[in-house]
Amino acid sequence: MAKHWADFQYEIYLNGMTGAVPRLPTDLTRLEELTEQRLGPGPVGYVAGSAGNGSTARANRAALERRRIVPRMLRDVHERDLSVEVLGRSLPAPLALAPVGVLSIMHPEAESAAARGAAAQGVPFILSSASSTPIEQVAEAMGDAERWFQLYWSKDREVTRSLLGRARASGYSVLVVTLDTPLLAWRPRDLDQAYLPFLHGVGTANYFTDPAFLAGLAKPVHEDPNAAVMHFVSLFADPGKTWPDLAFLREQWAGPIVLKGVLHPDDARLAADAGMDGVVVSNHGGRQVAGSVAAADALPRVARAVGDRLTVLFDSGVRTGDDVFKALALGARAVLLGRPYVYGLGLDGQPGVEHVIRCLLAEFDLTLALSGHTAPTTIAPTDLAEDNTDQP
Ligand SMILES: Cc1cc2nc3c(=O)[nH]c(=O)nc-3n(C[C@H](O)[C@H](O)[C@H](O)COP(=O)(O)O)c2cc1C
Repeated sequence: MAKHWADFQYEIYLNGMTGAVPRLPTDLTRLEELTEQRLGPGPVGYVAGSAGNGSTARANRAALERRRIVPRMLRDVHERDLSVEVLGRSLPAPLALAPVGVLSIMHPEAESAAARGAAAQGVPFILSSASSTPIEQVAEAMGDAERWFQLYWSKDREVTRSLLGRARASGYSVLVVTLDTPLLAWRPRDLDQAYLPFLHGVGTANYFTDPAFLAGLAKPVHEDPNAAVMHFVSLFADPGKTWPDLAFLREQWAGPIVLKGVLHPDDARLAADAGMDGVVVSNHGGRQVAGSVAAADALPRVARAVGDRLTVLFDSGVRTGDDVFKALALGARAVLLGRPYVYGLGLDGQPGVEHVIRCLLAEFDLTLALSGHTAPTTIAPTDLAEDNTDQP
């Protein structure tokens, strides 16, 4: 029998018989405010902040909120199975933790705690290139649990080649290539505080432990940390890349490759033509292009364009179980969860991450059942109220 994520609900009520209540809210939309109250302004601004005046982040939420589920009745939803196959991997639910850099600003155990939390719940952890913990150390924290690696595509081919080799050797199965960050966007919350962790050598762990990166330095990092940071800044991203460059990554990585940050159906078609395996429809949580199309508004068009050729994943704005349901109805195979798990980490370390995963999936399981479904795969566009903006 498949795991019933909804049982978390009974666990909470049963624990309540001894007077215990959850340490964090079960309405995950409340975590941001709590984090704002409890953590320092620099780290909170970095995580909660967005590009420009925050219009894209707000649009992400509005696009999900606007869509409404139309529940169906009397369909025998007693037995349910949330498991899905994604990119040849068997997942317990249509969920992975999104790549988020620099987690040490939220909690001293950083990526290791988040990865352990994901592993404990069986959910894939996607490690950012810009993590504060090296690839190998995070892999060690996870045992043989499912892990993917996210690449910021460097100007330096040898560094890219080396990072991919390390990820492969450490058991990361899927490569997620983020396309929407060839430059850092205009982010007023960080600018107003002049806060950028990378300039302090935070979020550079993969580079400062990389032989190809170190080969480009005149002195070891500890002897001249500023030069190491400047070298990192100079090669971290590459605004000069174009579609034909993907051939290099296809040669370097034998497993599935997913392009993250795709919003236009034509870009999704180009991804398929380039031999990619999937796309993540995402606007980086509104952190890159202010005034961008909401990710949930872009999703149906991308799914219609390439759904039969590519695995379509989604992030940007997912906060609740019904958001997961809506994303699947709009054409996603699975979703990536971003900020909420980072708040969970900041507020309560690994248990906080697990709390967030369990709340999200319990709520999704209940939404699925109460809407008349027993599996994610039967969720369809017709489960949402008519919405003309989905038309091409
Ligand atoms: C603090 C922070 C750091 C992030 N770092 C990365 C990163 O290193 N690589 C990446 O591909 N995406 C990164 N993202 C984007 C997430 O993977 C994801 O697309 C985004 O969080 C989704 O939006 P949401 O959190 O509002 O749902 C980051 C997001 C945040 C909030």
